[in-house]
Amino acid sequence: MASQPRQIFILTGAGISAESGLGTFRDRGGLWARFDPLTLATPEAFAADPDTVLDFYNHRRRGVIAAAPNAAHAALARAEAGLAARGGRLFLCTQNVDDLHERAGSAAVVHMHGELLKARCTACAAVSERRAGIPRDDPCPHCGAAALRPGGGWFGAVPQHLDRIDAALAGSDLFVAVGTSGAVYPAAGYVRQARALGIPTCELNLEPSDNARIFDAARYGPASAIVPDYLSELGL
Ligand code: APR
Repeated sequence: MASQPRQIFILTGAGISAESGLGTFRDRGGLWARFDPLTLATPEAFAADPDTVLDFYNHRRRGVIAAAPNAAHAALARAEAGLAARGGRLFLCTQNVDDLHERAGSAAVVHMHGELLKARCTACAAVSERRAGIPRDDPCPHCGAAALRPGGGWFGAVPQHLDRIDAALAGSDLFVAVGTSGAVYPAAGYVRQARALGIPTCELNLEPSDNARIFDAARYGPASAIVPDYLSELGL
C-alpha cells in the first residue's frame, strides 16, 4: 500500500472469536451443524417455545461471559487508537453478538446482528443490558411488558445500523474482512460494494471464504496470528 489508509473499514465474523472458544456457525461442528436456527433463533420459534429459545441463548450467553478476547481483538483495538492518533478512523462493523471487541478495548463497535448480552423488547423495541440472562416474563425496563427476547443473533431480524455502515464504507480507503464465510447478507455484499467504489479489499480468514475470489488480497491462517501481523504492516 503506497500511502497509509486514513479510514479502514473492518468487518468481523465468528471466526475472529473462534480462538476465544466461541463456536462459529458453518465450520465443521459449527453451531448450525448442531442446532437448527429455525427452531431456536427466529421470532416464530420464540413465540412457539420461549423457554427453549431462552435456554439456548442463555447457554450461549454464559459461553460469551466465560470467553476472553484473543490477540486479533486486541490488535484491532490498538489499531483503532493508532489510526485515531494520526487523524484517521477504524470503523469496526461486526456480525458477532459477543462483546469480545469491547472487552479487548475497541471503543466504537457496530453490532449489525445485535448483542447477546442485551435484551430487546418485542413490545416497544427498547434494548436493555441483560448480562445475567433473561428470566421468563422479565418486564421490559422501558414499557413494563413481559416481552423481552435475546438482543442478538436472531434469524429473520433486520440487521441494524445499515445506513451508518454504508456511509462509513463509502468513506473508507481500505476494506478488510476478518473471520467471516461471506454467507449472510447484507454483510456478505460489502466486499462487492467496496470494489464498486474502488476501495482496496483484503480477506483475513482461516481458509478462502465464499467471497474469496472477489477480494484483491488475502491472508489465510488463524486470526490471532494474521490480524496482528497484517495491521502491524500498516503501521498499526
Ligand atoms: N481464524 C480466522 N478465521 C476463522 C477461524 C480462525 N481461528 N476459525 C474459523 N474461521 C473462519 C471460517 O473459515 C469461516 O469462513 O470464520 C468463518 C466463520 O464463518 P461462519 O461460521 O459462517 O460465521 P459468520 O460469517 O460470522 O456468519 C455470519 O451468520 O448465522 C448467522 O448471525 C449469524 O452473524 C452470523 C452470520
